[in-house]
Amino acid sequence: MPTIVFVDAAGTRHEVVVKIGENLMTVGREHGLDIEGACEGVAACSTCHLVVDDDWFARLPPADEDEQDMLDLAMGLTRTSRLGCQIEVSEEMDGLVVRLPREIRNMMFD
Ligand code: FES
Repeated sequence: MPTIVFVDAAGTRHEVVVKIGENLMTVGREHGLDIEGACEGVAACSTCHLVVDDDWFARLPPADEDEQDMLDLAMGLTRTSRLGCQIEVSEEMDGLVVRLPREIRNMMFD
């Protein structure tokens, strides 16, 4: 089973072994990471926003139109932003690194 690396807003790495077919929003939440996932994975909220490591971004299946529309509303959007709920883990994703975006409230205390 592939290992996915989540880097939280504080910069701490969390290596998580993931079953094929699970999505990154669900997996992250199950492991206590601060991913809201308000719409429960139907690409209707953008609160599962993750920033994919540069080296990995082009290797993932591309975002569809619904995901792109929702991403436009995400706070702290970057060139390699994706919705975690729309990324289903495959064997080829072993070692994938994704970052949780910093939240506004965290930035206020930096
Ligand atoms: S959980 Fe709502 S868009 Fe991913």
